Amino acid sequence: MKQLFVTCPHGFEPILEQELKSLGLHSLSIGFCGIFVPKSFDNICLINYQSRVATRVLWPIADFLCRDRDDLYSNAREISWSDFMHCNKTFALDSNVSHPNLTNSMFASLVVKDAICDFFRDQTGARPSIDKHSPDVQLNLFIQKGRATIYIDTSGAPLHKRGWRDLHTEATMHESLAAGLLLFTKYSKEKTFCDPFCGSGTFLMEAAMIATKTAPGFLRKKWGFFHLPGFEKEHWIKWKEAQDSLRTPLEKGKIFGSDKSRETSEACQKHLQKLGFASSIDIQYNDIAYYTPPTPPQSIVTNPPYGVRLETSVALFQQFSEFLQNKCAPDISAYLLYPEQELLETAGLSVHSELSFKNGGLPIQLFSIKKNLT
Ligand SMILES: C[S@@+](CC[C@H](N)C(=O)[O-])C[C@H]1O[C@@H](n2cnc3c(N)ncnc32)[C@H](O)[C@@H]1O
Repeated sequence: MKQLFVTCPHGFEPILEQELKSLGLHSLSIGFCGIFVPKSFDNICLINYQSRVATRVLWPIADFLCRDRDDLYSNAREISWSDFMHCNKTFALDSNVSHPNLTNSMFASLVVKDAICDFFRDQTGARPSIDKHSPDVQLNLFIQKGRATIYIDTSGAPLHKRGWRDLHTEATMHESLAAGLLLFTKYSKEKTFCDPFCGSGTFLMEAAMIATKTAPGFLRKKWGFFHLPGFEKEHWIKWKEAQDSLRTPLEKGKIFGSDKSRETSEACQKHLQKLGFASSIDIQYNDIAYYTPPTPPQSIVTNPPYGVRLETSVALFQQFSEFLQNKCAPDISAYLLYPEQELLETAGLSVHSELSFKNGGLPIQLFSIKKNLT
């Protein structure tokens, strides 16, 4: 069990691998929905704090053949649980089980919980408590193809929860997806960046965090690894301060956006204030048909609304096409997220599908827009 498993949505594995390499990690290998990384406490801290794309950092603590309930209990009972958690900490266990003899994930969870409680009761006479909603230690059990793996989730809350979003608007993007797409499209702080359907500001915030070398965990207060034996708070504080000292100011006028909903553009402003970006990023409350950015944008990554009436969508993408032609720099690099190609082409956009993945359970694609824009 020498490897951590750093998870991400399916399709984002190469983007995450590239990002982890850029953080100085090596000996990586690609798995399904994640990357295997050499196990160390330093890597756990680094990835949890600095990865913009990762969803969780999982530490596998046991992997064994599992034919039935007895195998599951006896192997889980043999784990030296005191190496991973204290008896006075709360824990929760989520299971994902695909097995002919263990068909019920809740039952499998109960078997492992019993094994953990029996371990501590035998050792100390006391047992840790279970807290399903806000546990100190989150455990995950996966059983597939007759093998069980138990992980400690060193992230706790998923890493897209950066700590800046407190207002939820319509169809928001996960921060880690937005950051992954910015990295995929080679976002550069040297170019002017615009999101004309900015909503709550996810792309703008993530772009500004990349531009200013602000760690994605900068505002976050806690992670699962805080509860692991071996965690030293003072060492962590010093390490975080050193990482944060690399932050740079945001150049004014390089990032901007707009949204036709007043409520949403106000939410976006409030989010930008959280990291001190509000005075450097121009946000307008405007329809794309009338929006004139402060400078012609050189790059765009955006997710326009979908699920609206066909003729409304065609008209919207015609306006988007006009926006690209009339309001953007001639060397514009533009990407948009949408579930289907046909409608974009009907609206006259010349697009190429670059990436397919799921957003909130729905299939979606990232389209690049070719220069011959009509
Ligand atoms: C899918 S949401 C974008 C979500 C955003 N990326 C976020 O993470 O919050 C689409 C946004 O487009 C806005 N919108 C819809 N029609 C518009 C138009 N004609 N002009 C400008 N904005 C529009 C909506 O108000 C909505 O906030």
